[in-house]
Amino acid sequence: MLDEQAGVIDNRPVAEGFYQLRLAAPAIAAQAKPGQFASLRVSGQPAPLLRIPLSFAAADPQGGTIELLYETRGPKSSLLSRVQIQQTLPCLGPLGRGFGRPAPGQKVVLVGGGIGLPPLLFLGDWLRQRGHAEVALLAGARSAAKHLPGDLLRAAAPQVRLATDDGSLGHAGFVTDLLDEELAAAPGALVCACGPHGMMAAVAARCRRAGAACQVSLEEYMACGFGVCVGCVVEAAVETAGPYSRYRKVCVDGPVFDAAQVRWEED
Ligand SMILES: Cc1cc2nc3c(=O)[nH]c(=O)nc-3n(C[C@H](O)[C@H](O)[C@H](O)COP(=O)(O)OP(=O)(O)OC[C@H]3O[C@@H](n4cnc5c(N)ncnc54)[C@H](O)[C@@H]3O)c2cc1C
Ligand code: FES
Repeated sequence: MLDEQAGVIDNRPVAEGFYQLRLAAPAIAAQAKPGQFASLRVSGQPAPLLRIPLSFAAADPQGGTIELLYETRGPKSSLLSRVQIQQTLPCLGPLGRGFGRPAPGQKVVLVGGGIGLPPLLFLGDWLRQRGHAEVALLAGARSAAKHLPGDLLRAAAPQVRLATDDGSLGHAGFVTDLLDEELAAAPGALVCACGPHGMMAAVAARCRRAGAACQVSLEEYMACGFGVCVGCVVEAAVETAGPYSRYRKVCVDGPVFDAAQVRWEED
């Protein structure tokens, strides 16, 4: 884990309530992998006390930059949206464990809901740069205005399919409807998902039924972000030796997990 003063290069709105933040952080950019995250201190004041964990949406080791995409929700993300170019932000990273690699030629289906897309955009671009052509991105949002711009999505995958809850863009309905079609066409696919907990539970259940491998990036509420506070634990599906051994710290054991190792509500 590195602790770097990251310089703000750009911080702009890209969709309704969504911002794109580009930071100069050469040491972190050199090590960041898809699925890992950064933890930013958004204010020089005592409050908010906690940092904000955000997945890498891109990292450019040559240019020394990282890119984050975030939705304004509460105090930390709202303060972040007001950060100005040339400010510096204390940034910890890269944190956590990222996505596992697909087998050569294996189809990869990226399934993102809402602000779950950033780690998938990084993964898609990372795979593309390494010649992995078989990547589809399925992106779900509440409405057209909540979808990230098409150029950001297309950079991650040659095949992009959109869904909206209100039917204002793409498939009218849940992104999991699109996943059903993909799994029927490519049952041996590796599915990588990030989004609201209910969406990921639904993705995990579909993959289990189809026999497809599935990795999920869990975005639990975090305090420290590096393993000391035990504020981010989730229950694992398999019980191992010892009374607390069935719990996993999302910040260091994840945030990416094999979906079969997570205990979902319906299990
Ligand atoms: C590994 C990881 C990667 C992430 N990547 C991204 C990303 O790329 N982009 C992005 O936009 N967000 C991402 N998040 C989520 C992001 O960190 C949070 O949305 C952010 O912390 C919100 O902070 P806030 O102060 O703005 O809002 P908060 O005040 O923290 O509230 C935001 C929301 O969380 C709820 N909440 C508050 N406290 C708790 C609690 N104890 N338990 C559960 N829910 C609570 C609130 O009700 C509210 O709906 C990620 C989170 C993790 C853990
Ligand atoms: S957030 Fe502190 S242990 Fe995970």
